[in-house]
Amino acid sequence: MDSPRAPAASSAAVPRHVAIVMDGNGRWAKRRFMPRFFGHKQGVDALVRTVQACADRGVEYLTVFAFSSENWKRPSEEVSGLMGLVLVAVSKYLTKLSKEGVRIRIVGDREAVSDRVRDAWHTAESQTAHNTRITLSVAFNYGGRWDVVQACRRAVAEGLAPAEIDEARLSSLMALSYAPDPDLFIRTGGEVRISNFLLWQVAYAELYFSDCLWPDFDAAELDQALAAYARRDRRFGLVKTAEPQPATSGA
Ligand code: FPP
Repeated sequence: MDSPRAPAASSAAVPRHVAIVMDGNGRWAKRRFMPRFFGHKQGVDALVRTVQACADRGVEYLTVFAFSSENWKRPSEEVSGLMGLVLVAVSKYLTKLSKEGVRIRIVGDREAVSDRVRDAWHTAESQTAHNTRITLSVAFNYGGRWDVVQACRRAVAEGLAPAEIDEARLSSLMALSYAPDPDLFIRTGGEVRISNFLLWQVAYAELYFSDCLWPDFDAAELDQALAAYARRDRRFGLVKTAEPQPATSGA
């Protein structure tokens, strides 16, 4: 059965929604004999480049995995470095992104982050709320399983009866309820897994994996991913449209 949120089978060349696991910052820095934090810092620049490139190509939603529920297990100096980077990134890029029409949304569990980080996110969201060119969703302290659990908790809290819970209802309670499901899922850094990102929402996404380390990601890398996407035959569970015909020679 098709998901109610899956768009109708289409050959639209440009995905409406791109989701990215920005992997490879640590290795990028290590190759330069630099601390991992340097890779994350360059990763912010790659992210800003990518938002711009996506907007220029007509992508309406970009969702990136900036800090997973599991990233708390990293060394404490790396975790605090990433938290500090939120403050730096917001003060350095918020005005620019807002001027370019980027609406910023944060998805994830905000309970565990500091007041300063929460305030920075609040500022980023409120200052860009009116923008319409592209929506950048930053998944921060996010996990796909966390998202399913929080949606179920909200369903219970709203007093929904079991019969009232279906895919559409649960989708409306998920963190990305304001966005269509991702059409294209990109992971950089050479690993070939989803790593608990948007588990519910990627049901029908086209998956694209690249060896490029995230700080090197640029418009040309994005174009390669978009070209691969444009070649895919999206069927959403429907039958193939151009099935190769069996030979009729009787052989
Ligand atoms: C994975 O690379 C990347 C992260 C855990 C962090 C991603 C964050 C950014 C790109 C910065 C964006 C930040 C903000 C504040 C918006 P890795 O460290 O696992 O790399 P490795 O696999 O080479 O070790």
